[in-house]
Amino acid sequence: MSEKYLVTSALPYANGPLHFGHIAGAYLPGDIFTRYARLAGHEVLFVCGTDEYGAAISLSAEKAGRSPREHADHYNGVITKFFDQLNVKFDNFSRTTNKHHKAIAQEFFLSLESKGFLTKSASDRQYCPTCDRYLPDRFVVGECYLCHHENARGDECPKCGQFLDETKLINPRCKLYGHNTELRNTTHWQLRLDLLKEELEAWVETKKDFWKSNVLSNVTGILKDIGARDITRDLKWGVPVPNCDEEGKVLYVWFDAPIGYISSTIEWAEKQGKPDLWKEWWTDKKTKLIHFIGKDNITFHCITWPAMLLKQDGGYIMPHNVPANEFYNFEGKKFNKTSGWTIDTEDFFSKYPADYIRWTIARGAPEAKDSEFTWTEFQKCVNAELNDTFGNLATRIIRGFALAKFEGVVPEASLNDEDKAVLTTALDCHKRAGEALENFKVRRACEIILELGFAANKYVEDQAPWKSFKTDKARCGTTVNVGIRLVELLALSLYPLIPTSAEALWSATGRKDALSEQRWGQINILEEDPASRVLEAFENPFGKLSKKQVKAEVDTLHERLKQHEKAQKMTENTEEKTAPAAEATETPENAMNWKDEISYDDFVKLDMRMATVNTCEPVKGADRLLKLELQVGSEVRTVVSGIREFYEAESLVGRQVVYLANLKPRKLRGVMSQGMVLAATDAGKAILLKAEQDCEPGASVS
Ligand code: MF3
Ligand code: ZN
Repeated sequence: MSEKYLVTSALPYANGPLHFGHIAGAYLPGDIFTRYARLAGHEVLFVCGTDEYGAAISLSAEKAGRSPREHADHYNGVITKFFDQLNVKFDNFSRTTNKHHKAIAQEFFLSLESKGFLTKSASDRQYCPTCDRYLPDRFVVGECYLCHHENARGDECPKCGQFLDETKLINPRCKLYGHNTELRNTTHWQLRLDLLKEELEAWVETKKDFWKSNVLSNVTGILKDIGARDITRDLKWGVPVPNCDEEGKVLYVWFDAPIGYISSTIEWAEKQGKPDLWKEWWTDKKTKLIHFIGKDNITFHCITWPAMLLKQDGGYIMPHNVPANEFYNFEGKKFNKTSGWTIDTEDFFSKYPADYIRWTIARGAPEAKDSEFTWTEFQKCVNAELNDTFGNLATRIIRGFALAKFEGVVPEASLNDEDKAVLTTALDCHKRAGEALENFKVRRACEIILELGFAANKYVEDQAPWKSFKTDKARCGTTVNVGIRLVELLALSLYPLIPTSAEALWSATGRKDALSEQRWGQINILEEDPASRVLEAFENPFGKLSKKQVKAEVDTLHERLKQHEKAQKMTENTEEKTAPAAEATETPENAMNWKDEISYDDFVKLDMRMATVNTCEPVKGADRLLKLELQVGSEVRTVVSGIREFYEAESLVGRQVVYLANLKPRKLRGVMSQGMVLAATDAGKAILLKAEQDCEPGASVS
């Protein structure tokens, strides 16, 4: 059945370049699905754009010495270029600063307000009188009120590792300049997700048969005790809160960002010369709205955004599916531009075709669990799969026979059972690959297309046209004819994944019509005979990577990391003399801030145990806290931990953690925390420790 799909990929922040990790989560899957869906005869619109407002962008802009708009202009350019290089093609790529965005974002706010789903309340926040602005907690530093470390961040202390309340910091200062800050009482609006809980739960219930299980469990977990959430900020850079007499109140960037999907569609419609056309996508009940995102965006796309849509008057559709992906790492760690743990994309694209990375990412797509790019895997995907499977088939048949031995004219065929068998197998693979793509299973689709490639190569091997050419030229001709049909179907199957190479294969088979205009499932290679088609030169779109090349890439990476560490050390040393406090917390994860020496007797006072997580849930009204119930021997302990940003509550159930048991209990947001769980801090992210293998809960750690 032909469907109507409105496809989106998470709007990237215009605050830095993208890397292959982002691509794997939201952009390549969106592009692959869109290309496939068009071939399958569905009507598709694919929109995206840069996410440009918010405190993070305005502060980075300031650091870079430019206005937020200049900063966003710059990164919008960088990101657009990256998508071009990767051949990710949107129907419209906009920006949340486009001219339609503000009005529609304000309309969303007002509609929620008029229906009673917004409330207002005042609280104390950190304010820097010198800079004349409120500061988000990450941008305030001061003395930790728990361990008295001098240089704690508003949200957490790098020394005692505790999650902090920024309003309690001692001697608080603004992080960028070290000015003293003060508390000021300020009013904000909250979205009453608590009032929408039941409606949202009922809606999610309708998805339970077809949404990915990781998305469902995440959403139902969070909905369980969902509370009101702030949707405004004190900031100059953003969409102003409508009908508000107070200056400097804007919509929280996460409130306005998804509305960017709509404003991008409006911009697209305008470019088509049909300004109302966007409504045919956003308000037609037949439209299936699909959001491609990474797992860190699940809550916003599956709870907040649907809640916002539910209470509009425009008759908006709701998301149909949100096939969120897990994370894609790089050589065992998270991609990290600051520390150099990343791929230099300029360099990459100057050396390798985009299809190499597209195929490698698709092959290892982080669909069910985190996955990673490694240079070795890259080499394998390019050499063994692209080149030796797909490229080889085409080279042998087209260059080796059709061009070299049949004067570039496809010979006639007289099909026997073996010929028919391989054509049937190929058609079956093509069909199954389509089903996989229709269901967002890109990894599976790649496997099936490889199956097609293997079957085709085996057929050529078995037929041995190099022998039959001498003994039975008609048989050899049939093999070549069948080989051409296989390459044709392979090209169509590969188009969503590696479009440029697929087009090269397609035209090498002598087809003059556009590959992108074919229909999936509608090339019947059993019946359609390419005989007497004229072929031109053949250029293998693939090649091989040498061991030496791969080693050089890995060496460069480690060299860059070393350089970075060295540079880091040097700036720290100079900064210590000139600018104390303020800047030092910038990259606490890299600074070797050794603590004071302790005796062995001190150390053994720590009672650390292996514990198994029985249950885990978010702490009400605290964005960063998870409450964990731990099994420690026969006892159950409760711990509150500031790791909510980094872990889905559900994903922790059943796993083991290292538990510090004899820390004095203390209350966090109304919950008594009996000790803490240990975690490493890497590039600002908390990573829970565990033992090499699961232990009896309660086993001691020393
Ligand atoms: N900018 C956000 C991120 O990169 C994603 C925003 S998606 C949207 O995590 F829906 F809000 F637009
Ligand atoms: Zn300041």
